[in-house]
Amino acid sequence: MRIQSITDDFGGTVEDIDLRTIANGEVTELRLALVQRGVLVCRSQTLQPEDIVNFARHFGPVEYGVREDFQLPSNPDVYVISNIVENGKPLGNPNDGFAWHTDLSFLAHPTAFTFLYALETPPEGANTEFASAAVSYDRLSDEEKRQYGQIAVRHSYEMLHGTRKGARPLTEAELLAMPDVVHPLVRTHPDTARKALYLGPDTSLPMDMEPAAGDALIHSLMDRTTQRELVYSHAWRPGDLVVWDNRTMVHRATEYDRGRYRRLMHRVTVRGERPS
Ligand code: OGA
Ligand code: MN
Repeated sequence: MRIQSITDDFGGTVEDIDLRTIANGEVTELRLALVQRGVLVCRSQTLQPEDIVNFARHFGPVEYGVREDFQLPSNPDVYVISNIVENGKPLGNPNDGFAWHTDLSFLAHPTAFTFLYALETPPEGANTEFASAAVSYDRLSDEEKRQYGQIAVRHSYEMLHGTRKGARPLTEAELLAMPDVVHPLVRTHPDTARKALYLGPDTSLPMDMEPAAGDALIHSLMDRTTQRELVYSHAWRPGDLVVWDNRTMVHRATEYDRGRYRRLMHRVTVRGERPS
């Protein structure tokens, strides 16, 4: 196994590895690289749904607890992202993640790691883009670090759901299962002690701030985090497995010609700690 940097500040490509048969020592090395570099790309894998789940389990408890609509029927730990419709039934969720975000920040124990595996990819478009909110934290002034370090932010699944066009209203049970949670705006990574902005635009608002001003603050911090020169844009090939650390990274999906191309992705998430 060899790990090559993608940018100076974050990202790594893992070569000479078969994720179906990794040794314990390799897991330790991969985990270290992942928390330090934020996102790892492993090309040319051949993974069945259970291979992705087994690999993910090395990194913590596999969990997907939000929407049951797009789980793989044969393996509910795997969530499907796709524009493919078979016999009138969508194979997966075609529409999520086009705004910069971090995964499932509205949970009390948000996702630590997301594993995304490409089965079918368009020849153009549909890149997934990454930026580091640890790098952007480091770029803040001392005064900003002090100020933002004191801000608590309310994250709300209901708020996120409200931004989804044409989505059915949440049921009482869903609302009960997904109460709002409060996380710090600056979180400290449990393994590396590195600080990072924890940003969920459209799904969160700072406490003790006027909503419009709070929303503007979160969006402006996300804009600073995702300036073009700080972004890695991953162009997918079938067989790519990309894993990222949601404690330090933000990411987004990008568009593609859905009428023309098929996209099929399998996704597994590992639950994290309570942000602090
Ligand atoms: C995700 C996600 C982006 C993409 O799986 O969490 O944001 O490009 N995916 O599918
Ligand atoms: Mn996502």
